Amino acid sequence: MSLFSGFYKKTREERIAITAETRQLSKDSEDILLKDHNIPESIAGKMAENHLGTFALPFSLVPQLVVNGVEYSIPMVTEEPSVVAACSFGAKIIAKAGGFTSQISERLMIGQVALYDVPDMLVAQTAILAQQDDILAHANSAHPSIVKRGGGARQLTVEQKEDFLIVYLHVDVQEAMGANILNNMLEAIKDELAALTHGTALMAILSNYATESLVTASCRIPIQQLHVEPQVALKTAQNIAKASQLAQVDPYRAATHNKGIFNGIDAIVLATGNDWRAIEAGAHTYASKEGHYRGLSTWEIVGNDLVGQLTLPLPIATVGGSIGLNPKVQVAFDILGQPKARTLAGIIASVGLCQNFAALRALVTAGIQQGHMKLHAKSLAMLAGALEHEIDQVAFLLRQAPHTNLETAQSILEQIRKEAKHPQE
Ligand code: HMG
Repeated sequence: MSLFSGFYKKTREERIAITAETRQLSKDSEDILLKDHNIPESIAGKMAENHLGTFALPFSLVPQLVVNGVEYSIPMVTEEPSVVAACSFGAKIIAKAGGFTSQISERLMIGQVALYDVPDMLVAQTAILAQQDDILAHANSAHPSIVKRGGGARQLTVEQKEDFLIVYLHVDVQEAMGANILNNMLEAIKDELAALTHGTALMAILSNYATESLVTASCRIPIQQLHVEPQVALKTAQNIAKASQLAQVDPYRAATHNKGIFNGIDAIVLATGNDWRAIEAGAHTYASKEGHYRGLSTWEIVGNDLVGQLTLPLPIATVGGSIGLNPKVQVAFDILGQPKARTLAGIIASVGLCQNFAALRALVTAGIQQGHMKLHAKSLAMLAGALEHEIDQVAFLLRQAPHTNLETAQSILEQIRKEAKHPQE
């Protein structure tokens, strides 16, 4: 039997011990978890301006998720109840079906120098391409450390978009997210491009639309694994496929469908110290690439299987930014087995697809409220003012009540306090 069995029913200390043993965590990581160490004041004060303190969120674990035949534990930072439970549930079902497969074909970041008032767009375009090798060498000299690591500027492309001539620089950023590398390079070549084109440079900046860092995660679940009754299993699979179709045609649904995917993606992106604004911006743009906003994942029935697929840009880093500064981020990498950027991007895409599967399964069967409210009840109990020893009882009674809301939680709490004071009434 797996050490992770019944993980969520254990105490926090037991969970840390199991994670430390199973994922061979360093003593430092185990200590950081046990003592719940966060970013020290001395570092936090230098990470952002006008610092007043730090802001904590729950750091949780999805115990077992299989990607490309390897089992990982997934660190997640999220405030939302039922996200971790749902991902754990989905990961369990999909592991039985062989787990997720992830693919990534290239990992380049794109930046742009936008020029305007260019007198002859065609002549300018030709001039830039003729000087490509020199411009790339100039870009590389602006950030030599990435070249030493085997990366660097690889290519220039040029496009006219209305009044603008836009020069795109394609850069291999190795293990970094690449914002500083790209911005250094782009600012270095900006004036040269303006001179070459006889135009004016408006700006030089990295693009978060990372179409050359696309990652695909997929899974194939035998339909009979969806329920013990074959008819219910088939109906569930058919309705998950229909839900996927709905997210392709209705942007109102697509936004929520993708929000469900990001419940998982944001949680691991945050835990690994990555830039979630960049990931969100790129992925939502990718969701609109065909002219209207669509669901990022698709589910279809192929033979006797339900097949899910998710593709999105994931410019994920394992170095740079706040990654080396936040002790919990170091623990997250230790839990994940110190993956390289490509591996981590594949894990993250798989988490997104897993989260999406769990949400869709719940939506087309019992509905979202049953599972979500079961777990949300504890948050409502705390909001109502329940003390630690009262939370489980309030949450339990709240789940039996016809309305799972704050008002009901408050009246349950009043009632149990009254009963505790006057037990025989
Ligand atoms: P259930 O059938 O009541 O769960 O589902 P269960 O008690 O039978 O447990 C099944 C498994 O779930 C467990 O397996 C655990 O893996 C996991 P076991 O270990 O018992 O063999 N699990 C838990 N893990 C950690 N802590 C827990 C816990 N409970 C169960 N406390 C469940 C319950 C929540 C899993 C299910 O109802 C579900 O997947 N719901 C979806 C919830 C969800 O997606 N929440 C996100 C918030 S809603 C939202 O923002 C997105 C949405 O709008 C997106 C969209 O529209 O597409 C929905």
